[in-house]
Amino acid sequence: MRLFIDSANLDEIRTAASWGILSGVTTNPTLLAKEDPTVDVRERIREIHRLVGGHISVEVVSTDTAGMLREAEEIVSWLPEAVIKIPMTAEGLAAVRQLSRQGIPTNVTLVFSPAQAILAANAGASFVSVFLGRLDDIGNDGVRTLADICEIWERQGLEVEIIAASLRHPMHLVEAARAGADIATAPFRVLQQSLKHPLTELGLQAFLADYHRLQEAQARTRQVPLVV
Ligand code: G3P
Repeated sequence: MRLFIDSANLDEIRTAASWGILSGVTTNPTLLAKEDPTVDVRERIREIHRLVGGHISVEVVSTDTAGMLREAEEIVSWLPEAVIKIPMTAEGLAAVRQLSRQGIPTNVTLVFSPAQAILAANAGASFVSVFLGRLDDIGNDGVRTLADICEIWERQGLEVEIIAASLRHPMHLVEAARAGADIATAPFRVLQQSLKHPLTELGLQAFLADYHRLQEAQARTRQVPLVV
């Protein structure tokens, strides 16, 4: 399972990229709206892509098919590598169909059920983003839904890539991998939580303390004159 970061914050993206774990970035209007409004959105997205390379999903904000197609065309004009993120609506699916005919990759977002995922695949989506956390928030089982979609994909031999999105904690990441998601896109906080473990910290402290003790003991040994 590949890892993307779900963020529009340059510091977070730069830090996670420096760990060498990222294969791409997903953004959405909510994430972009959290950042400095004086920075041009296009420039920010280009900078994000420069930092990570690989996949970059850029979301449209039109709700009609023609508007989505216009936006998609505009986005690929300044970022040809962009994957166009399209909402899971009737108008969105129609846009996905057109874009797939033009060879423009799409990521169908706001997918909450296997039925929606099947429709997105039939429209020609390249990626489907299944939202785990938001399903859990309303008392549904996000991981179960993702696992159902992965099982259907396996049985049907579908190649559309499954992105586990809306992750809230490291276990979402683990369960997404167990279910068979191709990609997990996680906020910086979840990546950071996944990196750290108290036993790693304690283990490292003990290794370093023992190493210093060993060095001191060796230094003492060297000071003792040899008796022959
Ligand atoms: O980018 C889509 C998704 O990951 C959003 O997550 O936390 O707003 O439910 P969240």
